[in-house]
Amino acid sequence: MRISVIGCGYLGAVHAACMAQLGHDVVGLDVDEAKIARLTRAEAPFFEPGLPELLQESMATGRLRFTSDPAEVAGARVHFVCVGTPQKRGEHAADLRYVEAAVQALLPHLAPGDVVVGKSTVPVGTAEVIAEQVAAVQPEATVVWNPEFLREGFAVQDTLHPDRIVYGLPPGPAGERARALLDEVYATPLADGTPQVVTDYATAQLVKVAANSFLATKISFINAMAELCEATGADVTQLADAIGHDERIGRRFLNAGLGFGGGCLPKDIRAFMARAGELGVDQALSFLREVDSINMRRRVRMVDLAREVCQGSIVGRRVAVLGAAFKPDSDDIRDSPALSVAAQMGLQGATVVVTDPQALENAERVWPDLTYAATAYEAAKDADVVVLATEWKQYRELDPVEFGAVVAGKRIVDGRNVLDPAQWRAAGWVYRALGRP
Ligand code: UDX
Repeated sequence: MRISVIGCGYLGAVHAACMAQLGHDVVGLDVDEAKIARLTRAEAPFFEPGLPELLQESMATGRLRFTSDPAEVAGARVHFVCVGTPQKRGEHAADLRYVEAAVQALLPHLAPGDVVVGKSTVPVGTAEVIAEQVAAVQPEATVVWNPEFLREGFAVQDTLHPDRIVYGLPPGPAGERARALLDEVYATPLADGTPQVVTDYATAQLVKVAANSFLATKISFINAMAELCEATGADVTQLADAIGHDERIGRRFLNAGLGFGGGCLPKDIRAFMARAGELGVDQALSFLREVDSINMRRRVRMVDLAREVCQGSIVGRRVAVLGAAFKPDSDDIRDSPALSVAAQMGLQGATVVVTDPQALENAERVWPDLTYAATAYEAAKDADVVVLATEWKQYRELDPVEFGAVVAGKRIVDGRNVLDPAQWRAAGWVYRALGRP
């Protein structure tokens, strides 16, 4: 199948490479010339395990190329819209300017029978607007909504072996034809038994934001329990294990700590609330405001804990922050809880040194006032307190005895509940964590 992928960011670059891997002939389009140049050299423009290898493999077959010329999408039968939908500045709503630009770039090149496939996370109602725009220019082209659920760090695996495939189709024969074409695109994962849900536009668009809202709620639920644990001396990790044994609840996404960040969960729940307001059903999602507040409170609590272990003040204290990315195995710092905590402590008078295995370049660009070090050991040299903010494997596996030799004061705040308190305390550390005694 000849495919175009519009937008070569996280979603698009991975999707393009994976579609080529499935045997399709793919052209990726992006307005960012520098990104296109890197992708054309088979280099991933961001850190994502497995993506560089996949790009090299796919480019070598000649089935994958990248361009900044919109005319080159002509001839593709299926066009995936994969651009970002960030939060609007100063508002909760989603900024749809990239979606609008992608559709405008695509419209002049659409041929009869083409299928435009929306993958970006959009406010419900967007697919319907795009369908009207497409129909006005090329009445024999069809729009399908096909949300993407990939997780950073597992993006390749999630695209090649998704949990489910959702199509939002228009009613009638055009929808059926589009479905048949998309079934060809996804023939391999469908043959592997991937569950498929075929529905209408509205449901397909809601599936994505509903899924992310549920995940955010699950994290904030356990973080609310962490607040209760802190008030009562209970241990939230054991609480999560115990309730997680109930299959109806499940243990995944019940890791209490510094909470969620990244380019999806925070902005998606906010955009969802904004859209609900427009639809006159804001009450239905008012709980998401609480989910957001619980999440943000964890960051404040983390700074408070660092202050507590420093006998009430971090002014002039040296703080090592382990982690800058919003989660491990990613160099993404969008709405990163780790950097939010680091910046707060910096503003409150501490001397903060941040380290991260992958995200330092991105962090330095956005937060130039913080100090950065290449390794945990360098960051922690002479530190009064160490803050574990992103649970990279190399931080989880730190040896408390060896690590204790470089710091000025053996104090650690575990923001992700991944260290063994007994082991760290036995090595002479003051160990504190979110939601643990
Ligand atoms: C998320 C969704 O998981 C994915 O399906 C969707 O397509 C995009 O948004 P991603 O942003 O890559 O993916 O990150 P995810 O793995 O979901 O983690 C989000 C945040 O929640 C991270 O900051 C992580 O540290 C935090 N988290 C996750 C917790 O605090 N506790 C948990 O138990 C799980």
